[in-house]
Amino acid sequence: MALRDIVKIGQENLRKKSKPVRDFDENLWELLDDMKQTMHQNDGMGLAAPQVAVLRRVVIVEVNGDFIELINPEIISQKGEDIEEEGCLSVGNFRGRVKRPYYITVKAYDRYGYQFTLQGEKWLARCICHEIDHLDGILFVDKSLDKDKYLKQGGKI
Ligand code: NI
Repeated sequence: MALRDIVKIGQENLRKKSKPVRDFDENLWELLDDMKQTMHQNDGMGLAAPQVAVLRRVVIVEVNGDFIELINPEIISQKGEDIEEEGCLSVGNFRGRVKRPYYITVKAYDRYGYQFTLQGEKWLARCICHEIDHLDGILFVDKSLDKDKYLKQGGKI
């Protein structure tokens, strides 16, 4: 396992769309293990592969002590609304409110290529939505209710 550098807003590739994973092999497992170590090192609740400069649809989340790996995740249903403050390891210290669904159902693959569905509410739902946005080059500041404040502080987009 190795720590990887976190790509920051304004750096190359963070805004690109990631490609689906095709091979559930050692390279993927190494990526996932490195991402876990990197997330823990930085006290994150989640991390997406483009944040470590890999443009593949891979995310990890850790909410309420449950660590989950999601490969090629897709939100298949969502319900309700919830507003909370978010931050992001790629964005620095700014935290801002984002409206997200309260409940989601997500379909994904595990590291061995087995498909599963998962239901999440509140912070788990929020965290998964935030990480899946990264796979499409979207950052929480783009949709934050506090975007004006972020921009006034000189925040990069
Ligand atoms: Ni993030």
